[in-house]
Amino acid sequence: MAFDVTRVRAAYPALADGYAYLDGAAGTQVPESVITAIGRAYEAGLGNTDGAFPASARSDAIMRRCREAVADLVGGVPEGVVLGPNMTTLTYRIAAALAVTWRPGDEVIVSRLDHDANVRPWVQTAGRTGAVVRWAEIDVATGELPSEQFASLLCDRTRLVAVTAASNIIGTRPDVATITGMARAAGALSYVDGVHATPHGPVDIGELGADFYVTSAYKWSGPHIGALIANPALLGTLHPDKLEPAPDEVPERFEYGTPPFADLAGVEAAVEHLAGLDDAAAGTRRQRILTSMAAAEAHEQRLFSELLGGLDAMQHVTTYGKAARRTATAYFTVAGRTPRQVAEHLASRRVNVWNGDNYAWEPTGALGIRESGSAVRAGLVHYNDATDVTRLLDAVAELSAARQDGE
Ligand SMILES: Cc1ncc(COP(=O)(O)O)c(C=O)c1O
Repeated sequence: MAFDVTRVRAAYPALADGYAYLDGAAGTQVPESVITAIGRAYEAGLGNTDGAFPASARSDAIMRRCREAVADLVGGVPEGVVLGPNMTTLTYRIAAALAVTWRPGDEVIVSRLDHDANVRPWVQTAGRTGAVVRWAEIDVATGELPSEQFASLLCDRTRLVAVTAASNIIGTRPDVATITGMARAAGALSYVDGVHATPHGPVDIGELGADFYVTSAYKWSGPHIGALIANPALLGTLHPDKLEPAPDEVPERFEYGTPPFADLAGVEAAVEHLAGLDDAAAGTRRQRILTSMAAAEAHEQRLFSELLGGLDAMQHVTTYGKAARRTATAYFTVAGRTPRQVAEHLASRRVNVWNGDNYAWEPTGALGIRESGSAVRAGLVHYNDATDVTRLLDAVAELSAARQDGE
């Protein structure tokens, strides 16, 4: 493995502004190659799809190449890649399409670990259809989502299990393959939220056993685009509302209106960028992605043990979550300071972090911290380096010194 973080950082113009970008879990910066791909698409001239002239053919090609790239990223097939504005919109869309098949007394399982975008659409859809909602709980002490509980939650009326591949606040990676396997054995579909997981390591939706997998390109160095990946045959069984003249094929059936073609060119460039994170990666693009994302994960995890070790060593800091498998995402509070005050102090030291629930509504409720402003999130992605970690730790340490000074 050859992960050269200096080379990786040089690809991102925004990182030159002197800030430590530890806010990647809310959206990463984009490399020059993505910016260029978007600009070139517009420069070349774009048209709407399926026309008789070259500018239209260019847009068709962008869409085809974007689906191929996303399929390579997660181990799917291009015909099963639905593109949309973001994960939340796609999830509401699929929920509406599935709802038509649900009957009163059917059941859905959601988890207390999930971002609200993989909870509320299912809870609301269940409410409208008379389906029963069952909750998978987290172990508050560890932040784990124990898989065993799904055995008692599932039954022959369960239609869907919605579960995250990684928590966007405490980073917990549940045993998705076991959970989806149990769901399948019970005759239920699985809907796996890969928004937080995808940027942090190799993804194989086959290994995860996900019937539906969702991801957002803006979390992995791309533009603000979401994608849902599923078996095209499964998508073919669903019939979402659509305009009469709009295509009825899969996956186009699920895509509403005119897409942002230039941004989709940027998505392909982002996948190419990820494939090249390890400059020794070789083979097909899929193989290079797997090698590069494994190298990126190892890099992130090395830095994360420094980050977490540093935070845990500070008496005025409380960290949340200690799952056995987790992404490089720290969530913490500082005694005597609100999360917002901590984030403001860090911003004054040019360190970008998020404060608040980050839409992890159920997890922050379960942890009992939502009412007090939740916590501060410092997340690492492949472009972060040891200096970013040191700057965060130094700035958080200052808050202890300031307290002793009576500030
Ligand atoms: C784990 C997770 N799921 C879902 C979402 C929602 O994604 P989108 O902004 O693409 O709707 C986010 C966004 O932060 C997230 O972190």
